[in-house]
Amino acid sequence: MLLGVNIDHIATLRQARYAASPEAHNVEPDLLAAASACERAGASGITIHLRADRRHIQDRDVFRLRASINTKLNLEMGNTPEILDIALRVLPEEVCLVPENRQEITTEGGLDAAGQMRALAPTVARLQKAGIRVSLFIEPDPRQIDAAHQLGVEIVELHTGAFANALGQPRADEIRRLHLAAVQARGLGLQVNAGHGISYANIGELRAVPHLAELNIGHAIVARAIFTGLESAVAEMLALMGGAQ
Ligand code: PXP
Repeated sequence: MLLGVNIDHIATLRQARYAASPEAHNVEPDLLAAASACERAGASGITIHLRADRRHIQDRDVFRLRASINTKLNLEMGNTPEILDIALRVLPEEVCLVPENRQEITTEGGLDAAGQMRALAPTVARLQKAGIRVSLFIEPDPRQIDAAHQLGVEIVELHTGAFANALGQPRADEIRRLHLAAVQARGLGLQVNAGHGISYANIGELRAVPHLAELNIGHAIVARAIFTGLESAVAEMLALMGGAQ
């Protein structure tokens, strides 16, 4: 099981102070240094979300990260012409299509791939034609997995938010949903990733889900990094992911 580290929140911290003066000589924290710390600690990729409102990651970050990282870049994006155009210029190894709503604190809910096939198909085709592997961030729902398969994407990223927020029986139910979804997706030949709300506390339970190829984790790692430093935070997560299938 591989780890992609979502470094959006490092940019959130930078923007809190330097949004109005991005070229200042004392801008910090440095996103490229953060990405390289994640790579040194064993991350297999760097994930960033270029949002329409540019609340954290900026356009120049995407281009500079593209040029500097040594692993792979996974660009999360909403399905809009503006961001698609940027993706086709940056050429990340992977694009993960996500729903995007301006008011949300972070991505809420999965992409409605089943309901948006017509809008998604041309975007998926253009990205794939450019050599980019496409992932859809979807709920662990059989209809959404079928839609992803029909769209011909390479990867599904199963939304683990409901699992992360649940306790007790509802949590066990979410693990079961994720398990069934992973089996279905893998059976259809899709790579199965997962993300959202994965933490040091819940990763152990998530390991019961089969076929997980890569996890995308942001908040928990960046939060822990405040106390331990980023390299340790990434290494610690990788150690907890360790014995998974
Ligand atoms: N995967 C996707 C598609 C996301 O949108 C996010 C949140 O930006 C994550 C993973 C990471 O979630 P978290 O920050 O809760 O680890």
